[in-house]
Amino acid sequence: MKERLIIFDTTLRDGEQSPGASMTKEEKVRIARQLERMGVDVIEAGFPAASNGDFEAVKAVADAIQDSTVCGLARAIENDINRAGEALQGTEDARIHTFIATSPIHMKNKLRMSPDQVIEQAVKAVKWARQYTDNIEFSPEDAGRSDIDFLCRVLEAVIDAGARTLNIPDTVGYTMPEQFGQLIRTLRERIPNSDKAIFSVHCHNDLGMAVANSLAAVLNGARQVECTINGLGERAGNAALEEIVMAVRTRQDYFPCDTRIDTTHIVPASKLVSGITGFPVQPNKAIVGANAFAHESGIHQDGVLKHRETYEIMRAEDVGWGTNKLLLGKHSGRNAFRSRLKELGIELDSEERLNAMFMRFKDLADKKHEIFDEDLHALVSDEVQVPEEHYRLLSLVAHSETGEVPFARVVIAEGSTELQAESEGSGPVDATFRAIEKILDSKAELQLFSVNNITSGTDAQGEVTVRLQKAGRIVNGHGADTDIVAASAKAYLSACNKLHTKLERAHPQV
Ligand code: KIV
Ligand code: ZN
Repeated sequence: MKERLIIFDTTLRDGEQSPGASMTKEEKVRIARQLERMGVDVIEAGFPAASNGDFEAVKAVADAIQDSTVCGLARAIENDINRAGEALQGTEDARIHTFIATSPIHMKNKLRMSPDQVIEQAVKAVKWARQYTDNIEFSPEDAGRSDIDFLCRVLEAVIDAGARTLNIPDTVGYTMPEQFGQLIRTLRERIPNSDKAIFSVHCHNDLGMAVANSLAAVLNGARQVECTINGLGERAGNAALEEIVMAVRTRQDYFPCDTRIDTTHIVPASKLVSGITGFPVQPNKAIVGANAFAHESGIHQDGVLKHRETYEIMRAEDVGWGTNKLLLGKHSGRNAFRSRLKELGIELDSEERLNAMFMRFKDLADKKHEIFDEDLHALVSDEVQVPEEHYRLLSLVAHSETGEVPFARVVIAEGSTELQAESEGSGPVDATFRAIEKILDSKAELQLFSVNNITSGTDAQGEVTVRLQKAGRIVNGHGADTDIVAASAKAYLSACNKLHTKLERAHPQV
């Protein structure tokens, strides 16, 4: 039996720290359920002290998940740890992950603390966290640029205080694989009580080394890797889960350990995260890019047809390509629809919502005869975006004709009031957004507009993401429709609804 490599997914925490990738509570729960289905060992659901929204999301994920450990992040201060402990209360399998910076540059300029003060605070934090759970993870932030002697002192002290996982972050993606592997080896060899803890790594991708560094660490004894779906994360992102898992699985001749991930869930997870965040996956991205298993040159095609392994080291179906089988059609009934949603981990909070979704599903099935899992996720993203829709699209006319100026007319409901506007634009989408702005006057800045086809074929639904920014707040809105102008209008309004909810919450009306 090989040793287990623990997969710790931080898509919902470090991934969400990627600018513009913020997710709603419902979106986080949906992703968490997919991670659980995939067999992820630990799900870092958020940073409860960061905001009430984060706190609620961690709580909701902890309530929804049974087969993975749910983890909350906390700085090494009592209030943060209390918030994490409260968010995870009642969860059988909970972990608190506490951290403090240990590099000279962070201690001096950010924390303004001496090394001895940092050790004292780290130990205090681990002991404090133990009132909530024995499953404590400690990270010396910026370990990649920390002094090795000092790291050994901090880590020995936190193991004595009760930390059971020591996570070594390369916070700024500075190290090189050989060096990072050696760091893990040295820490394991030099810390006298190192056998009492599992060594973990958390690598950022600023120099494109996150996966290579993580794997070098695994070869040197790390038995937990922190990673994210599609490599989402701060700046250039984190190590990509799919690359770590598939490297270890494909090269079992090379690695001394293995994961318990069911790899057939990888591509659906990638599509789900990309759909929710609006961050497209580059076509040549390893494992989950659209071209990852496509062979263009004649020589390669010929080789693959004669003997697959001439040019393929993994099978597309093993990572979930082509598993979005046609499951529902226009003759499917409400029960089949409900049970497929359940299998996908989508639970709607009321019968009304289910009915509304079912009607939309039937409309879609009329337009698009084959409905895939991705279509269902897109329908849900579209339907369950904000608890209350402040603005609702009632109708849209968009006109584009060669030689004519594109034009759009939209009718929106705000409560019981119907509002209408028309506008011209450089294209039908531009005209539609301008018409919506005439009504809403949101003055939000459009930061991103992206259209992705959810499945293949010209009858596919287009999934549109619109990112808006206003008063320092960034929101993503999604819309899905077989008509991409309609999908764009829905996405724009959904972003405006989120902005409206956020701004209302920030400035509650008396
Ligand atoms: O990059 C980092 O150092 C982190 C820590 C909180 C683990 O995300
Ligand atoms: Zn990080």
